[in-house]
Amino acid sequence: MTKIHSSEITPAGVYFNRRSFMKAAGALLAGSALAACMPRTPSPAEGAAGLTPTPSNLGLTDELGNPATPLDTILHYNNYYEVTDSKEGVASLAQKLSTDPWAVEVTGLVRNPKTYAVDDLNSRFTPEERIYRLRCVEGWSMVIPWQGFPLARLLREAEPMTSAKFVKFTTLYDPKQLRGQADHFYSWPYIEGLRLDEAEHDLAILATALYGQPLPKQDGAPIRLVVPWKYGFKSIKAITRIELVEEQPVSFWTEAASNEYGFYSNVNPEVPHPRWSQASERRIGELGRRPTLKFNGYADEVGQLYAGMDLVANY
Ligand code: MTE
Repeated sequence: MTKIHSSEITPAGVYFNRRSFMKAAGALLAGSALAACMPRTPSPAEGAAGLTPTPSNLGLTDELGNPATPLDTILHYNNYYEVTDSKEGVASLAQKLSTDPWAVEVTGLVRNPKTYAVDDLNSRFTPEERIYRLRCVEGWSMVIPWQGFPLARLLREAEPMTSAKFVKFTTLYDPKQLRGQADHFYSWPYIEGLRLDEAEHDLAILATALYGQPLPKQDGAPIRLVVPWKYGFKSIKAITRIELVEEQPVSFWTEAASNEYGFYSNVNPEVPHPRWSQASERRIGELGRRPTLKFNGYADEVGQLYAGMDLVANY
């Protein structure tokens, strides 16, 4: 694998002076350890050797003042089940995936269906920087400086029909390249979904870069969803298809264990996972745990999407 050193990052001034900076802005399968972000075979503990953070975060912070997780950590602690269920193994194995050329089909209940080359998306929708917290359902988190564009802009161009109620996202299906897809334990391809109004929220982005460089393969190259107020598994990688649909899509992890991974999966310290609390989390690179924030700290922005909704029933 080609390791990307901080010195190779696009100089901050080149990339970041363009930024629009977000300030305020099934059953548990018998005996298995099945969990989104938690492989069937145990992975080494978080914070293990090799994950020591470097100071190379360019001084970036999120809007709450949390320092961005160093690039090296973001590149070596990944969940990508199509590649492997070992977090530390993803970085090198993912490099085998061919991501150029790459097309994203926007289809379904839209007036303007279209297939975009990823390069066209990048030139059509000016990238913005979004420094977001990523909270995995497993109880760890990072702060990641993404560059991308609001999904809403692409949806606006597609013109959803009034019958469109949800957006369904699909990852590349290619078991020859993505060896994990040969594992029949899971139902491939990886699918995720959002309610249309969630998808149209300005915080939901399609990311094509992080730390000012094209999205690394282990992080979902060439294009992935980032929905910062939801558990990390909703942020689907390597998207090839975005489909507007009438029925609520069945997500990959909901299909695997519906009692553990609901459609909404909003970060919520008050709604425990059936097998563990969600009240606190470990920021990768830090010792100890910190309290988990409702909607991952984005409640002011997204709370109204769920006004009057029972957040326990709709986990
Ligand atoms: N997308 C696909 N296609 N396949 C995956 O296995 N894992 C999810 C999500 N998106 C996953 C995926 C999970 S469980 C998490 S926590 C995040 O990606 C991790 O993103 P990262 O590896 O960039 O930190």
